[in-house]
This record gives sequence, C-alpha cells and structure tokens, in this order.
Amino acid sequence: MAKVLVAPSILAADLSRLAEEIHRVEVAGANWIHCDIMDGHFVDNISFGPDVVRLVRKETNLPLDVHLMIEHADHYVPRFVKAGANSVTVHVEPKAKHDVLKTLQRIRNAGCRAGLTLNPETAFETVESLFGKFDILLVMTVHPGFGGQPFRADQMEKVRRAAEWNKRSQDKIDIEVDGGIIPQTARISVENGANVLVAGTSIFQSKDYAKALRELRGE
Ligand code: DX5
Ligand code: ZN
Repeated sequence: MAKVLVAPSILAADLSRLAEEIHRVEVAGANWIHCDIMDGHFVDNISFGPDVVRLVRKETNLPLDVHLMIEHADHYVPRFVKAGANSVTVHVEPKAKHDVLKTLQRIRNAGCRAGLTLNPETAFETVESLFGKFDILLVMTVHPGFGGQPFRADQMEKVRRAAEWNKRSQDKIDIEVDGGIIPQTARISVENGANVLVAGTSIFQSKDYAKALRELRGE
C-alpha cells in the first residue's frame, strides 16, 4: 500500500499563532500544509488569500497544497503560485466560473501540480474526461465551506473509481480526501484507495499533534 500522507488544514489552526502552529505540525510529521481559500461566493465562508499563503511559505519548506474554493480560479492562480503554492486544486463545478481545462494547464505551466476537486453532490463522471490533465484528485467528503462537519462515506465510490484509474494507467495521481477526517474515517478512506488525508479539526483541536497524525495514519 502507498505511503499515507497527512495534510493538516490550517483553517482549523489558531491563526493568531499561525507560525507556531505550522512549526508544531511540521515537527509532528505533517507531509503537506493544506491551505483552504474561500471567497464567500463559491462557498458561503471567507478564509484568507495569497498574503497568508506567503506567510505560511516563509515558515516551512513542506509542500503547500492550496485548495481554491473560489470563483474565477484562473484569474487568481498566478497570485497563489507566486505566494509559494506547490499544488493548486480547483473545483470542477460550473459555479466556479472558469474554464477548468485551461486552469489546470495554467497551473501545470506555472510549475505547480494541478489538483481537481468535486463537491459531494457532483458526479464522478464530471472529472472523468479530465483524467491525465491533473495530478491530484481531491474528493470532498463534506460540503466545502466549513471545518468540523461529519464525513460522508458515500463519497468512497469516487475514491475507488480513481484508484481503479491508477491501476490501469501509467501516470499515477494522488487521491486526497478532505473533510471530517478522524482516525476511523482516515482508515476507511485509505482502505478505499486514498493516499492523502486532509484534516483540520482532528489535528488542531488535539493536544498532541504528533499523536493525532500517528492515529490518522493508523500507526
Ligand atoms: C472544507 C475544507 C476542509 C476543512 C477540513 O471546506 O476544504 O479542508 O478545513 O476540516 P475538518 O478536518 O475540520 O473537516
Ligand atoms: Zn480543503
């Protein structure tokens, strides 16, 4: 089985001590830092923008995994690349108001890994024709916008179908799950074929980040 990577979502961190939080998860064994960008339009919440990503970049050498829950992602991609993103993930839904294929190409051309994601109610078929054009499939296991929601096990079919694609194809993608990830749902996700776990609440609300990460990896 592929190594399981954990990407703490700083949405759940104490933003008044952001640098310290990043150092703590890095020491605890985080593999990537997940940055949730929300614009109040594509999702009903507003988080932070490229300036905060730039601050995160200064604090760590870990890959920065930027998840854009915004309209017109194509317009903003260059700013997040410049801020230090290593991967940029965009939504496939029409509500995101961009040319998805062009945006994915734009991300790759900028030297970043391209991620594609879909909401729980969006069918897997929506991303199927784009396989080969992105490096990470992010399967939302909650409706995006807020941390702390319960995991939706019905999304595991998408994870399995992506894992089947990986078996058939020479290019392997990362299969990432996001939302409601706790040790039990981490295990379910990995059993179905996920290899990257995004977790906010279950890490940052715990007292011992290293223990939280070990438990998510099933160690
Ligand atoms: C949801 C975000 C997630 C979220 C995960 O809109 O994309 O990354 O912060 O948070 P938890 O782990 O609290 O469900
Ligand atoms: Zn996210």
